[in-house]
Amino acid sequence: MIEKKENAYHLRTARCSYFVSISPIGKPICSHFGGPLSGDLSSLVFSPRLVPGRTVVYDQEHPEIALPCLPLEVSTRGKGDFSTPSVILEGEGLLPLDFVFKDSRIQTPEAIPGYPNPRNAEQELVLFLEDNANHLELELHYLTYRNENVIGRYSRIISHRAGKTYLRRLSSCCLSLLKQNLALHAYRGGWIDEFHEEICPVTSSTLLSSSATGSSGDLRNPFFYLSSSSGECFGFNLVYSGNHEEILEKNPMGFTRILNGIDSSSFAYPLTKDQPFDSPLAVLGYGKDETEMTASFHSFVRRCVLPASHENAERPIVFNNWEGTYFDFNEAKLHALVKKAAKLGIELFVLDDGWFGKRDNDHCSLGDYEICKKKLPHLIKGLSDYVHRHGMKFGLWFEPEAISPDSDLYRAHPDWAIQIDGLKPSLGRNQLILDLTKPEVSDYVYRSLSSILSKDGVDFIKWDYNRNFSDVLPSEGRFAHDYILSLYALLKKLREQFPDLWMENCASGGSRNDLGMFSFFDTGWVSDNTDSLSRAFIQKGMIKGYPPCLMSNHVSAKTSHQTLRKTSFGTKFDVACFGVLGYEMDLNALSPLEEKEIAGEIAYYKKGRKTFQFGTYRLLEDFSCDGVLFQEMEGKDEIYVSFVRLLQQPNAGYRKFPAVHADENAEYAFSVRPETIDFHRFGGLVNQVSPIHLKEEGALVNLLSQYKGLDSEKFSGTVSGLALSSGALPFPQEWNGTGLHEALAVILDFGGRVYRFQKNVDTEEKKA
Ligand code: DGJ
Repeated sequence: MIEKKENAYHLRTARCSYFVSISPIGKPICSHFGGPLSGDLSSLVFSPRLVPGRTVVYDQEHPEIALPCLPLEVSTRGKGDFSTPSVILEGEGLLPLDFVFKDSRIQTPEAIPGYPNPRNAEQELVLFLEDNANHLELELHYLTYRNENVIGRYSRIISHRAGKTYLRRLSSCCLSLLKQNLALHAYRGGWIDEFHEEICPVTSSTLLSSSATGSSGDLRNPFFYLSSSSGECFGFNLVYSGNHEEILEKNPMGFTRILNGIDSSSFAYPLTKDQPFDSPLAVLGYGKDETEMTASFHSFVRRCVLPASHENAERPIVFNNWEGTYFDFNEAKLHALVKKAAKLGIELFVLDDGWFGKRDNDHCSLGDYEICKKKLPHLIKGLSDYVHRHGMKFGLWFEPEAISPDSDLYRAHPDWAIQIDGLKPSLGRNQLILDLTKPEVSDYVYRSLSSILSKDGVDFIKWDYNRNFSDVLPSEGRFAHDYILSLYALLKKLREQFPDLWMENCASGGSRNDLGMFSFFDTGWVSDNTDSLSRAFIQKGMIKGYPPCLMSNHVSAKTSHQTLRKTSFGTKFDVACFGVLGYEMDLNALSPLEEKEIAGEIAYYKKGRKTFQFGTYRLLEDFSCDGVLFQEMEGKDEIYVSFVRLLQQPNAGYRKFPAVHADENAEYAFSVRPETIDFHRFGGLVNQVSPIHLKEEGALVNLLSQYKGLDSEKFSGTVSGLALSSGALPFPQEWNGTGLHEALAVILDFGGRVYRFQKNVDTEEKKA
């Protein structure tokens, strides 16, 4: 809902308010972004009475007003504001800008041309500003969304100047928060190490987080949030997949300026006279605490961003052959995997890289989507039919934006690759990127995909993207942006043709997981790192801004290919189940016991899938407290708690479950998910229980452990919701080096568990 009273505008959702007004000097200011407001808001309008000494006064008619004393919604250099500007334009040099309010309109929302637009926009406020001296118009757009607790913001600029005008920065959002002791939570990392939370205080030093890799990238995700000392959280994201920047700084008056938008270091967009240029959409979410802020983003992304065709659909359980075979597969090997996957309860079989051209390694063939008959004599259709006959959906990997120098496509069209004429281009993973801004290139990619998708029985595609930009002329300050808009146009066309296709976003793992891509994709491959401990860190970062129903998590071989750390399948499941579950390993190398374990995990997941994918997420206790992580996913009548530990402590003490968000009037039946502990983990201690002497790592132990392991602790009972919410439930006693007991939890280094708390329907009924 958007209300206008005189020159003030109140954007109101159920749990937050955004209150913007026009100051006496014609500058839009935001006096409140935070908890909901109602009634007479006039006394909230921020109005300075005096300017501090040595301050530049904006104009002589208003001697009490200086720009640094206002919570500005747009800021420029030249009239006394010295914080980072939100708009920068270059003509024959940088232009001194001064936008003032002209008019406003509350309207039915209009789509931003060229970008993906979130659904369910309810109302739109437009503030029209002008800079007469420079012949410029600026529009600030604000959007509300039906039943969502977020605000959308973007900016539009129109130049009527004669001569060359370059846009160097147009922030999507410029906001000045007046909150003390803000801390920035940013999500940073690299390949196999995405989404690490970095927390740092916001100070007067400028904090800049950006990506100039050509995509949103894994170095810094565009999602971040600010927490205040009272616990309130202010989250920000962009519906954009290209270069981006986020800038924070506190000025001497106490305002923290927050800017986000396209990265300005790599941007110089030539404006065409009288033609509008739009920034991408920024999304602002508020919560009185972290859980509420996260819930606001989860709900918005699920209902407004992710493709409508699968909005409420439970995501299938995947098998992907990548870590199981890499490039080394043939039809017989795949058939064996298909049979095993079906037997275990898998629902979607995905064939990864290596099925086309001469692609036996990553040095060639990208761009040549000619099926490799040596590996697949019955082609893709033969395999998809086989998968379908085994009751599963069939998925296929593509890297549509890439081209190998060693490919027929490159030999025919070297100019289709992004490179500078006359210079040897830099390769990334031995490949180049196709220039999608050329219509003939986009068209080729579209036709290549569309012909396979129309006839080969493909239900799912994994869209990969494995390198960053290079060899773009510095003079082409618009290229990276144009590339992303061309990518969106291609994705839109494919989506329109194949609305029911499941699509997974991937960029060497999580290198392009952003709201622009998730406007077209149902899920995203979170990271190429499938080690469960690394994943626990990565996933707990990503889930702060992205819902679990889009986070694709795979259980892989016990010895991680990325860290060489060894963890059980049980632990890998305990981490992977908070999201979309999948398996990625050589299923034919599983022992009978491991097969049983995995089949059990899959059955367990299917029962709780709705909660695992669509539940309300809470971080209960982070590793930083006690070396353990407790997370909760709350569903309609059940709660799952996942536990992961760093290192097993000697003579471990006792602990309780942290306070779980339970219904205080209900009773809960609780249980731990049964796991199997490999005999090998006990070394020579197995002889304490074995009737015959067993040699540690000996052939007999090896054989035995293929069929049998130690059952995990017995832990079940009932507990009141009030006790759960009060953190009163004791955690099972843990292994402490002396003896075994059926109730003793042997969780090991980097180990985990999942607990289920089911609301006791009988008790509820009795009460009623
Ligand atoms: C990178 C992806 O992230 C992997 O999962 C896999 O698909 C490889 N590319 C294939 O080349």
